[in-house]
Amino acid sequence: MEDVLGQVIGVLKARRLKGERRAWLSPEARAALAASVAPAPRPRPEAAVAVSAPVRPVPPPELDRPAAAPARSPAVETPVPLAPAPAVSLPSLDLSGRSLEEVRAAVAACSRCDLCRAGRRQTVFSDGDPHAELMFIGEGPGADEDAQGIPFVGAAGQLLTKMIEGMQFRRQEVYICNIVKCRPPNNRQPTHEEGEACLPYLRRQIELVKPRCIVLLGSTALWHLLRAKGITKTHGQWQKFNDIPVMPTYHPSFLLRVPERKRECWNDLQQVMKVFGKSPKPPAVPAAAAAP
Ligand code: URA
Repeated sequence: MEDVLGQVIGVLKARRLKGERRAWLSPEARAALAASVAPAPRPRPEAAVAVSAPVRPVPPPELDRPAAAPARSPAVETPVPLAPAPAVSLPSLDLSGRSLEEVRAAVAACSRCDLCRAGRRQTVFSDGDPHAELMFIGEGPGADEDAQGIPFVGAAGQLLTKMIEGMQFRRQEVYICNIVKCRPPNNRQPTHEEGEACLPYLRRQIELVKPRCIVLLGSTALWHLLRAKGITKTHGQWQKFNDIPVMPTYHPSFLLRVPERKRECWNDLQQVMKVFGKSPKPPAVPAAAAAP
């Protein structure tokens, strides 16, 4: 197996030097790569889930971004099986071929659900780098976001910014957006229909930004993007959306209310850091210990 792995790596490196961005790999090559990077499966809280959710082989590394750091594709754990989503009848919306600015304009003119008439001041599309390698997806704008037209600028946004910086990214380096782009009245959770109405915009945002990794913040994002329920069970377990590794974790608003869950969230985010070859800094030496 090691011989095959060495050959595969050699071939991939040579192809990248030639400027090739994607490579087809034989089943043996895939197996060798999977065996070399798949971590031992973590114990899962529910035996039934562990039996029905085998860890899928790790796909070969993508070659379409310069390897800034020794990134590894994380192993994927399948979400808990779901009840089917309620059917929603909406006019179809084809955004293929539209740029991010065109999608932003389409969102600003959107009336696919009642949120556009429910007292919001403006749509809230995104913040950050449209070429970001890391994307955060929240639920929907609150009062501060509605006032400023920028996602995650209120109290939850300040915590999200700290989380991003703790991960050794700058806020401007990542891409931040939401499931719904209009503020739900009284900050209520968006309904299933509202989320569905807005989903084509988010899908196109993901297609265009092409992040290397997505962090889903909270259960609304988890439900609408992956159709998985239960952030408490699913957080910290790698998922996939269109071949992009997805890490679900707690929403910062929840962490403001339940700060004792911050440690679990930090563990989830450290898994994401590893994808980018980053590791948390060791705690600073306490002043007393550093004194002569
Ligand atoms: N909560 C969210 O989910 N999104 C925001 O933009 C702000 C708060």
